[in-house]
Amino acid sequence: MKNKLLSCFALLLLVSLHSTAQETDSGTGLIMAEGWETVRATCTECHSAQLITSNSGSRAVWKSRILWMQDTQGLQQLTPDTENTILTYLADHYGQKEATRRAALPTILMPENPYPILN
Ligand code: HEC
Repeated sequence: MKNKLLSCFALLLLVSLHSTAQETDSGTGLIMAEGWETVRATCTECHSAQLITSNSGSRAVWKSRILWMQDTQGLQQLTPDTENTILTYLADHYGQKEATRRAALPTILMPENPYPILN
């Protein structure tokens, strides 16, 4: 019974992981959705796309990063269209996270704690 429940759970997990998986470009790691090629062309000249894919933020946060790079790092001025495409892509696919830590595992799924619990 317990095994059946576990298999069901694992299957559900796989199905949900599969349905939310998005295709990523093998060269840059960028999610291949509308606008990704503009981001690749505009944003990977000075640093790896990993700097982008490992960050997140609202549209305003991404805009502030672009302004900072334009003010201090030599990023070119972008046309309103290009900037809009980039900001929409980034906010949609690398948007603000609700929480940066995963929820704690239930105690029953963790190994026994060999240490005394300190209060
Ligand atoms: C002209 C060069 C240049 C271009 C083009 C460029 N960047 Fe940057 N970017 C930098 C530099 C320099 C840094 C600082 C690198 C470091 O901290 O190691 C940086 C840092 C970043 C960071 C990290 C910011 C942080 O808070 O740590 C992000 C995210 C980023 N860039 C995204 C982008 C995006 C999105 C684009 C395209 C719109 C872009 N970059 C294009 C030069 C550039």
